Amino acid sequence: MKDTSMKHTLICLALLGLSASPLALAEPPAAAVSELDAALAIQGDPVKGKVAYEVCRGCHKADGSGRADAEYPQLAGQHATVLIKQMADVRSGRRQNQKMHPFIEKDEVSTEDIAHIAAYLAFLPVPRDNGKGDGKQPARGKALYEKDCATCHGGKGEGNAAKFIPRVAGQHYGYLVRENKAIQSLAGNRRDANPDMVKVIKSYPYKDIAAVSDYMSRLGSEH
Ligand code: HEC
Ligand code: HEC
Repeated sequence: MKDTSMKHTLICLALLGLSASPLALAEPPAAAVSELDAALAIQGDPVKGKVAYEVCRGCHKADGSGRADAEYPQLAGQHATVLIKQMADVRSGRRQNQKMHPFIEKDEVSTEDIAHIAAYLAFLPVPRDNGKGDGKQPARGKALYEKDCATCHGGKGEGNAAKFIPRVAGQHYGYLVRENKAIQSLAGNRRDANPDMVKVIKSYPYKDIAAVSDYMSRLGSEH
C-alpha cells in the first residue's frame, strides 16, 4: 500500500471512530493466516474457555488433570501457546489423534474457543497426584534430562511459552513414556516433534526413556 493511500485509510477509519494501527493494516488477508496464528492473535477469555472446555472433560477431566493410565494427558497449567499449537496440530491432522479429532472439529470448537480454552487451562493449578514412574533410576533420569532435555524444557521442566515448548513437570509418567517413544520414531501422533529433540532421543534404549520420563513426572512436585 502506498503511503498516501495508507494515510487516507487511516483517516477514514479515524472518522468512522475505529482504531487501527498501520501494523494491523499491513496484515495479510484472513485466509492466509494459519489457524495457529489466528488463535494466538485472539485474547483468550478464561470464562468463555471454561464453557467451551465442556466437550473435553469426558477425557481430560474437569480439572484438566487427565488420567494417570497414560491415555489422556494432563492439560492444567500447560502454556497457552503450547495448548493452542497442539489443538491446531490435532485439528489439521499434523498430530494424529483419532480419539480427539471429532471433538476438536470446527463445528465443535471455533478458533476463538481454542484461544479461550487455552487461557482457561493455562491458569488451572497443576494437579499434584500425577502418575509417576517406579523411581528406580533417579540419578540416571536426572543426568539424561540435564544433558539432553533441560536446554529446551527448562531445568525445572517448566517449558518455554514463547517457543511452544511444553511444560513437562508433573505430567503423567505413562503419557510421557508413550510420547517419548512416539517422538523417537516420529510416529504419526508426534509427526510435529521438534527435529533437534528427535536427534537427541533417537538412540535412547527403553530403560533410558523410562528413567527420563520418571524424572520429568516428578519435577515440580516439590512445590
Ligand atoms: C475422546 C477423548 C478426548 C477428547 C474428548 C478430547 N481429547 Fe484431547 N487428547 C486426547 C488424547 C488421547 C490425547 C493424547 C494423544 C497422543 O498421545 O498424542 C489428547 C491430547 C490433547 C492435547 C495435547 C497435550 C500435550 O501435552 O501435548 C491437548 C492440548 C488436548 N488434548 C486438548 C483437548 C481439548 C481442548 C479438548 C476439547 C475441545 C480435547 N482435548 C478433547 C483425547 C481427547
Ligand atoms: C531443541 C529443543 C528440545 C529438546 C532438546 C528437547 N525437546 Fe522435547 N519438545 C520440544 C518441543 C518444541 C516440543 C513440542 C513439539 C510439538 O510442537 O509437538 C517438545 C515436546 C516434548 C514432549 C511432549 C510433551 C507433551 O505435553 O505432549 C515430550 C514428552 C518431550 N518433548 C520430551 C523430551 C525429552 C525426554 C527430551 C530430552 C531427551 C527432550 N524432549 C528434548 C523441544 C525440545
